Amino acid sequence: MKNSNTMQMQETGKSSKTMPIVRRTDFQHGSATPRYWFKGNALATHFNNAMHMVFPDGEQLFIRSVRAFANEIQDENLKERVKAFIGQEVQHGLEHKKFWQILESQGLKPGDFAKWFNQLAFENLEPLGIKVFGKSGPLAVTAALEHYTAIMAEMAFQKDSELFEGLPEEMKNMLLWHAAEEIEHKAVAFDVLKKVDDSDYIKIMGMLVASAGLWFFVFSGMLHFMRNDKELSLAKILQDIPDFLFGQKKLAGSILDRLFDYFRSDFHPDDHNSLELVQNFLNSGKIPLKEKLSA
Ligand SMILES: [Fe+2]
Ligand SMILES: [Fe+2]
Repeated sequence: MKNSNTMQMQETGKSSKTMPIVRRTDFQHGSATPRYWFKGNALATHFNNAMHMVFPDGEQLFIRSVRAFANEIQDENLKERVKAFIGQEVQHGLEHKKFWQILESQGLKPGDFAKWFNQLAFENLEPLGIKVFGKSGPLAVTAALEHYTAIMAEMAFQKDSELFEGLPEEMKNMLLWHAAEEIEHKAVAFDVLKKVDDSDYIKIMGMLVASAGLWFFVFSGMLHFMRNDKELSLAKILQDIPDFLFGQKKLAGSILDRLFDYFRSDFHPDDHNSLELVQNFLNSGKIPLKEKLSA
């Protein structure tokens, strides 16, 4: 078994050598999780509840899209990184899905949203995407979404970041663990894409489709939860709108700045070396582990 301190970071050209580490975790949120767990703001909470919904099935798409090229990868290091990427994404999905029980107990009907999301995104749009762009289409979407998660993860770990301040401890640690692993594996899907289709066209199309899909499904999830939240009053919505829209203005601006990096022809996820940001957290003992495995 390797310790997280031993993560390798050697760069050769534009391909990363960072080896992600798969951690079998066991977060327990408990039924005492407040209904509006995201800083008391109902809108921000339902936005983030929607994130809990899109991650597990979205991460299954990531896994399928990378696995579709598993036999074509010759580079032994990249093969190992792909295995670790899959292991991490499986574990992320399991942890986010656990939280669905809390959403269910709050009467928010997560299952209804999951069913609709799956049908539209993965039974209809994904096969259509493969038809139009070939199997590198979903991979390009995955690489683009990994850019989003890496940017958001880096924001969470930046000095003085208040992104997760005030959240229930277990939720905060779960989100930070997920964010840290997103940083560890941020270049894996991108490196596979570069090996199988190096064109700017597929990279840019992937980002356009990913951006449209991500925000459409997240805001749909948010509306689903608001509609099913029987305790949510109009007064509470009106009260929470300003903070939801403008509370993270700095964050939204930074996401946009970094997002456009992706369109550069010579962009690589490791252009921003952010591994050192997460080391303290990974070694802090705040991740409840069943076991820790090397990649
Ligand atoms: Fe993930
Ligand atoms: Fe990821």
